[in-house]
Amino acid sequence: MNLLEKYDIDNVIKISASNPAKRDCQFLRVVLKQVRIKNTIRFQAEKFTQKQVFHDNIPTEKLTEYLNSNLVGNFKQICVVLPNKIITYLFSSSGKVKVLENAVATNPKTVLSQNRRKKYLLSEGDNIPALVDLGIFTKEFKVVNSMYDKFKQINRFVEILDDVLKQTEQKEITLLDFGCGKSYLTFIIYHYLVNICKINAKIIGYDLKNDVVENCNKLAIKYGYDNLHFIVADVTKDKLCEEKIDVVVSLHACDIATDYALNYAVQNNVPYIFSVPCCQHEVNSTINKGGDLDVLLKYGIVKERVSALLTDSVRALLLEDMGYSVDVMEFVDLSHSPKNLMIRAVKKHAVNNKNKAKIEHIMQQYGFTQKLYSLLYIQ
Ligand SMILES: C[S@@+](CC[C@H](N)C(=O)[O-])C[C@H]1O[C@@H](n2cnc3c(N)ncnc32)[C@H](O)[C@@H]1O
Repeated sequence: MNLLEKYDIDNVIKISASNPAKRDCQFLRVVLKQVRIKNTIRFQAEKFTQKQVFHDNIPTEKLTEYLNSNLVGNFKQICVVLPNKIITYLFSSSGKVKVLENAVATNPKTVLSQNRRKKYLLSEGDNIPALVDLGIFTKEFKVVNSMYDKFKQINRFVEILDDVLKQTEQKEITLLDFGCGKSYLTFIIYHYLVNICKINAKIIGYDLKNDVVENCNKLAIKYGYDNLHFIVADVTKDKLCEEKIDVVVSLHACDIATDYALNYAVQNNVPYIFSVPCCQHEVNSTINKGGDLDVLLKYGIVKERVSALLTDSVRALLLEDMGYSVDVMEFVDLSHSPKNLMIRAVKKHAVNNKNKAKIEHIMQQYGFTQKLYSLLYIQ
């Protein structure tokens, strides 16, 4: 099968595969994005398991072969995003394929060029060499086209962080980043706090992946970021920093890694939390029919989204119970990331448990489990 037969590969912005066809499918989701490296178009694939993300680089001439061996047959839904439309292939278990075509109102490339003109806290053209090595900036400090969404996300994250932290006027900040991955965010926060705000910041990024952590440590040394360190750790079980921490951040830390970040903050009395969750599988895989909201559980995709919202609502309510003042906000527009909810929490008062009974009631009624609840009240 050739999913791209009718389309010019150069026009393919993104391909995403979701809804695994088999229970034992190795990956839950695969996203391929077009990137331009030295004027050559390639595709970068991110393959998501429950806990990790793996990457592949695919030359355009191998794209169809890659799609056929990795996506077709393994997922029930594959979307191809073109500048003016999204083609959705739906595969039934009997082997039938349904193709849907939806026009997109605005050409994403137009949005891209419009957004490029916006002024952010950190701007295109700023001399941040680490971002060149990380692939966000070109050597001329221009945002790499395909990294524009990431640039927007990390910039907005820093803006929100800055809004809160500038009120404290702290001159020393220790911050932990859970599931830092390639650490675009971690580097940019360090650069902003140390080089721009002249704050004495110490930052540690945790991630499962050895190679990524090694590379980030090399970059930190290369740029003289003396108080920026990366540590290989499974945040769900390894011993983490025992110093006094001021801020916990997580950006798209997979599934329950987010709960461990929030729990760490609660247990260690961390005053500020900025967390953008991702792939909230736990509730989705445990929730059952059980009440007035059953209508939301019938269709897989609706159930997945409801479960994600339920997860983040429960997390926010639990943080309130733990004495935090909490906001759940869209930190970037949906067009920049579908995972665009941020939980922002500031420790303000004592533990009160005022939402606990409400949460327990709904968990019991629908039979789902939620890791932050278990970490706070069961373990
Ligand atoms: C989607 S990536 C996000 C990376 C980065 N924060 C960003 O937004 O670019 C999620 C990262 O979380 C890491 N991760 C997932 N579970 C983890 C765990 N239990 N402990 C440490 N890192 C974890 C993965 O290895 C992966 O690098």
